[in-house]
Amino acid sequence: MRILNIIVFLIVIGLNNFSFAKEINDKGTNMTKPKLLFIAGSIRKDSVNKKLAFNAYQLAVKMGADCTFIDLKDYPLPLYDGDLEAQEGLPANAKKLKSIFIQHDGVFLASPEHNSSITSLLKNTLDWISRSEEKGETPNKAYANKVFALSSASPGYLGGQRALIPLQMMLSNVGVIVLPKKVSIAKAYDKFDEKGNLSSSEHLEDLRLLVKDFIRVTTAIKQCSKHEAVE
Ligand SMILES: Cc1cc2nc3c(=O)[nH]c(=O)nc-3n(C[C@H](O)[C@H](O)[C@H](O)COP(=O)(O)O)c2cc1C
Repeated sequence: MRILNIIVFLIVIGLNNFSFAKEINDKGTNMTKPKLLFIAGSIRKDSVNKKLAFNAYQLAVKMGADCTFIDLKDYPLPLYDGDLEAQEGLPANAKKLKSIFIQHDGVFLASPEHNSSITSLLKNTLDWISRSEEKGETPNKAYANKVFALSSASPGYLGGQRALIPLQMMLSNVGVIVLPKKVSIAKAYDKFDEKGNLSSSEHLEDLRLLVKDFIRVTTAIKQCSKHEAVE
């Protein structure tokens, strides 16, 4: 009986893989392949969170996902100001970032911890892109159907994990799915080599498992949205 169960399990896995592969072959492109965005909540040149986000990006690329890594340094934004928004609308970089978010199925964030919370940079960015560009626009369009994976790195003993609590709270309130698994790297200045690669095998494995979950969940959500669109 146990052997029979194992055989059924293997057949199901095999069929799933077959239909996934067939979809890639039939359409030329992979319609269910998720598009994943990787961002750090720091613009510092030697940021450990940038290194963490980039390591996650490289793992996801190896696992076959369609990935984009961006540096928020390339998208400077003023501090959110309701008067500025009323006069001029969204700044050009907020529009660009919003469009990048909309084009992706999942967002991986690596957040530093500043005074036990997220950085003002990250909060300001997430606030600007939560705003509508025109009347009647779906609320929180940049976050619709999005899956978020959260991580943090800090030279401290807690690895910045306290920043992930307000971050998760904020993201849940704008309607995204936040993966339960998180990766926090403590003593982070010693955990990357001179090329920026994560040198701790324990953390690398942890990150690999998070990225694997990230791909699986974004793929599933994308597939559901596609079926909903057909119905
Ligand atoms: C204003 C400020 C507040 C900070 N507060 C914390 C903190 O609460 N916990 C912590 O672990 N590190 C804290 N740090 C140290 C950061 O973890 C450290 O600067 C880290 O390198 C920032 O991430 P990055 O390397 O990705 O830029 C703080 C740093 C700054 C500038």
